[in-house]
Amino acid sequence: MNILILHGPNLNLLGEREPAIYGSQTLEDINNELQSRAEGYNISLRIEQSNHEGVLIDRIQENRKWADALIINPGAFTHYSYAIRDAIAAFNKPTIEVHLSDLSKREEFRKHSVLSGLENVRRIMGKGAAGYFEALDSLAIKE
Ligand code: DQA
Repeated sequence: MNILILHGPNLNLLGEREPAIYGSQTLEDINNELQSRAEGYNISLRIEQSNHEGVLIDRIQENRKWADALIINPGAFTHYSYAIRDAIAAFNKPTIEVHLSDLSKREEFRKHSVLSGLENVRRIMGKGAAGYFEALDSLAIKE
């Protein structure tokens, strides 16, 4: 199984960025843990972080044949990028939207995700870094 993992804008600053909300683990810590779990499951990962909407869309498109599933934290693009929504709809394979924080308990503008309603997408939020690990585990178990 091949899984594409994408981290959106500002997630490169995890660990130093608002740790009370996003936790103290760095993105590197999270990626290392994902990688070691994936090896245990015999899953290949491609992991990338980008601050740019178009780069995230390019990666979804480029990996659409390679990847069997997508795990994505689109950062603030979650709330307004119809272009990322369209890319994930076109990808049309199991996708897990991960958010470190619980969007339902934050500012109004964060309560809506443009990925809502896509049949291939489910959401894990409010579990910190553990949400990414749960996402990987659930895809591995379904295989
Ligand atoms: C986030 C929540 C978003 O609202 C925010 O813009 C982020 C991170 C989360 O993981 O909780 O960058 O997606």
